[in-house]
Amino acid sequence: MEKRRKIVKAGMFALVATHPLARAQMHHGAHRGAHGMMDHHGMGEHHSAEAYHQVTELMALDRMPTRQALLPLPQLQNTSTTAKRFQATLVAEPKRLTVADRKQTEFWLYNGQLPGPQITVNEGGTVEILFKNHLPEPSTVHWHGLPVPADQDGNPQDMVPAGGERLYTFTLPKGSAGTYWYHPHPHGRTSAQVAKGLAGTLIVRAADDPLAHLPEQHWMFSDVRLDTQGRIPENDMLDWMNGREGQFVLINGQYQPNISVSTQTRVRIWNNCAARYLRLALPGCLWQVVGTDGGLLEKAAEPQEELFLAPAERVEVLLIAIESSRPTLISRYYDREKMMVTEEAVDLTLAQVAVEAKGNLDLPEVLRPFAHLGQPVAQKRVEFSEMPMDHGDHSMSMADMHNMFFINGKTFDMSRIDLRSKVGEVEEWRVFNNSHMDHPFHIHGTQFVVVQREQNGTVTPEPFNAWRDTVNLRPYETVVFHVKQSMPGIRMLHCHILEHEDLGMMANLEVING
Ligand code: C2O
Ligand code: CU
Ligand code: CU
Repeated sequence: MEKRRKIVKAGMFALVATHPLARAQMHHGAHRGAHGMMDHHGMGEHHSAEAYHQVTELMALDRMPTRQALLPLPQLQNTSTTAKRFQATLVAEPKRLTVADRKQTEFWLYNGQLPGPQITVNEGGTVEILFKNHLPEPSTVHWHGLPVPADQDGNPQDMVPAGGERLYTFTLPKGSAGTYWYHPHPHGRTSAQVAKGLAGTLIVRAADDPLAHLPEQHWMFSDVRLDTQGRIPENDMLDWMNGREGQFVLINGQYQPNISVSTQTRVRIWNNCAARYLRLALPGCLWQVVGTDGGLLEKAAEPQEELFLAPAERVEVLLIAIESSRPTLISRYYDREKMMVTEEAVDLTLAQVAVEAKGNLDLPEVLRPFAHLGQPVAQKRVEFSEMPMDHGDHSMSMADMHNMFFINGKTFDMSRIDLRSKVGEVEEWRVFNNSHMDHPFHIHGTQFVVVQREQNGTVTPEPFNAWRDTVNLRPYETVVFHVKQSMPGIRMLHCHILEHEDLGMMANLEVING
């Protein structure tokens, strides 16, 4: 299964070795097309650190225990006694855990749990979460993908200071059943806070869910980077450029667990990694997608051999197995055109999975009628881009990195409105990735329907209608989607590689009452 192929990536810059974490400098040396500037060997995970003099030595992979039975995600207890109301407290706090090599790691966690506790609520229910920020810096809680009022959505404009608290409240409308998550959104610090462990899952259930009778299993993917001392290191320059990937890919906080699942299990999968793409494959099994970010599809999709999840994407799937087996769950190498990096095309082992073949499921023909948005009455154009490469040969500082990733030619400004939409208006968005690397696009407050994708002059209509809040863009790809915002206020749109978001690949959409 292990496929090894050496890939030498054309670099855009040559790095000048200097202090790795503080004042790293880069030279615009080589132009695109120069080869093998950093041709270090065999270290898919170590390339970033090796770009510098002072290498952060990473903990060896065999230092973390594997093959423990997959644990269900911890649940956030509802303390409300009133029907249709979910009340609880989420505390973000530093917490020491021993996860590898008997070394203590200081994580930042919600309620001390890795991953954060799962919130399960019903459509029509009201959620009241008291958030207490026991971190040494400001934070927010963002409800990724949920249609919550803008002032309850943990925008970077609404920071909760260190030591502060606030109540988030929202009511989940009918039709919002789906697979969501929550995470911090303080501008410039989202990637650091998520890298330390702050993220949790959220499920909205529908009363008329046609798959409610199936047993469920949840796989939340995240990754963590540990150094030899068990510390979570700061980002280096390559992390800022390409997005950070920890060497340990975890499922529900566990490294390479043992999973038992049947072909009649509804599996919800989250890619909550900051920058890692997943191409999941399970030999002998096919994936049948029945739901995406925003819930069930109209009809179950054609079974597929590989499941692609960009950072922040979610799916609901059924496994189709030819016979009961014990395959290895892998993520195939994905070339997302990182800058300055030589990668080995190595498949990652994620888990051992015992699949019990239970025969065919009788799925209803229609899982959920598709609530078409109707004809768009307005258009939007969004372009992702990166700093032009025609600068001369000069060194580049961390400050310059903040002027490297653009939306419509600009880096994020908290107080600038970049786009305006009207409440209730259906819009057609054309999002163009005018850059040489993948970027996953995400918008707050709603779900959209991808209509088509365009690349190299080829237009590919989307094979099925699906509700999404995140969609990947290949280099120079355009994704066309239809979307409607149903509440006024400021919504963020951004690249969900968290380092790019922090560096300003984000914009403000103001939704106004029509
Ligand atoms: Cu999951 Cu604005 O992000
Ligand atoms: Cu979001
Ligand atoms: Cu990006």
